[in-house]
Amino acid sequence: MTINLDEVDSTNEYLKRLVADGWNSEDITVVSAQYQNAGKGRRGRQWLTEPGTALTFSVLLKPRMDLSDCSMLTLVMAMAVRRALADMDIETSIKWPNDIVINGKKICGILTEAIAETGHIIIGCGVNTNQESFPEDLSDRSTSVLIETDDCVDHDSLLESIIYHLEKLIDSFMETGDLSNLKEEYEEALVSMDTEVTVLDPEGEYKGICLGIDERGQLKVKHDEEVTCVYAGEVSVRGIYGYV
Ligand code: BTN
Repeated sequence: MTINLDEVDSTNEYLKRLVADGWNSEDITVVSAQYQNAGKGRRGRQWLTEPGTALTFSVLLKPRMDLSDCSMLTLVMAMAVRRALADMDIETSIKWPNDIVINGKKICGILTEAIAETGHIIIGCGVNTNQESFPEDLSDRSTSVLIETDDCVDHDSLLESIIYHLEKLIDSFMETGDLSNLKEEYEEALVSMDTEVTVLDPEGEYKGICLGIDERGQLKVKHDEEVTCVYAGEVSVRGIYGYV
């Protein structure tokens, strides 16, 4: 089921309220909004977009799996967005774990939240589509489909395509309960694959070579002849030349 709204605080928050009100569908529920007046980014940041300039939507899932495994689905959503953009001849990469980038700039961000009481997971996604420009403080790291291609995006078709790919990817994911089937495609898209990265670990920053991901979506980084599997919740990773 898909719910289209003109305005909402945040599509993630809307779905949380739906669940609190007793919504308990086993199928994917999708909510999209023309405008979010209190859009949320990762790490408590705001996610602000002008009405109609970005595709902002969230999906509600109740996967038959441990909620602690659900963070892997964030990577699956990134792959779905990438496939949908590729269908429009827009080639993108993924900055681990789930930013979509093009020419070194972010075109899509994903915020995943779990509802422990009911076993639901909400994956919220903001795709920069029709922005003509970005404020100065964002313009060196954000871009849109319009800026990159000179083409406007029809939000309904892009959303339909993302959900089509998401459902196929989730089927593949559920066969093993991890990313084994999807790892190769993810690594083909991984912007930092085989390059030097800086791991911003709160316990100490270090540099290493990115070797890809493991089956659980953790980033494998080789440093000091050891391979560390980095978990996305704790740290972020930068390339040595800036945002990507
Ligand atoms: C990030 O910081 O990169 C994540 C951004 C996630 C934004 C999307 S827009 C739809 C959904 N609703 C929200 O409030 N946030 C997510």
